[in-house]
Amino acid sequence: MIMDKKEQVAKEALNFLAQGNVVGLGSGTTASKFISILGSSSVKDKIVGVATSLASEKLAREVGIKIVDIDSVDWIDVTVDGADEVDSDLNILKGGGGQLTREKKVKNKSKTYIVIISDEKVVPRIPHKFPIPVEVIHFGHDTTKKDLEALGMSCRFRADFITDNGNLICDCTPTEKVDLQFLNKRIKEITGVVETGLFLGGKKTILVSNGTEVKVLK
Ligand code: A5P
Repeated sequence: MIMDKKEQVAKEALNFLAQGNVVGLGSGTTASKFISILGSSSVKDKIVGVATSLASEKLAREVGIKIVDIDSVDWIDVTVDGADEVDSDLNILKGGGGQLTREKKVKNKSKTYIVIISDEKVVPRIPHKFPIPVEVIHFGHDTTKKDLEALGMSCRFRADFITDNGNLICDCTPTEKVDLQFLNKRIKEITGVVETGLFLGGKKTILVSNGTEVKVLK
């Protein structure tokens, strides 16, 4: 039987939750599926959530998940989030929805990090089709963009978009093949940059749906 890929992988992620868990709730359409499925399961009353965006917080509250502030917990047991692209080294590109800073903050506080995607998001190398989103403060943003371009990327601000933190997103595409760790470090050294959508390194479990089965990449 062919299933909706987002639904299939979101359902699978429910198996990673246990009673008493603090659960990081991701952003985007796939993570929203997970939040809705969690909200309609009995597990909902046994966990509390930490949201990665205002939209996820709103949805979680609507489906009856108790939300707590990230600063009120010592750690997050398990986070379930979506992604835009995952490559063969399990580097993750996120931020298509623009909430990459909160997503990374929640990920960094998580003991277990689960990424739920459909199979077309598995690519040989990131960034593949998506640009690297970079969250940038308003002050001097055109100067920040020039600094980003000086690293060998073509960049443009996402039109009519403000992050939940009140900042801009500058979408950047490297003009040639780059060392991602090095590039990420250089981007983050630029004053005015808040965070990038490159989620490199760290332990993670990627659940990939092709509509018939869910594969696990670690
Ligand atoms: C939000 O900022 C993003 O990182 C999303 O997690 C990512 O864009 C995946 O979204 P979809 O599940 O909607 O494709």
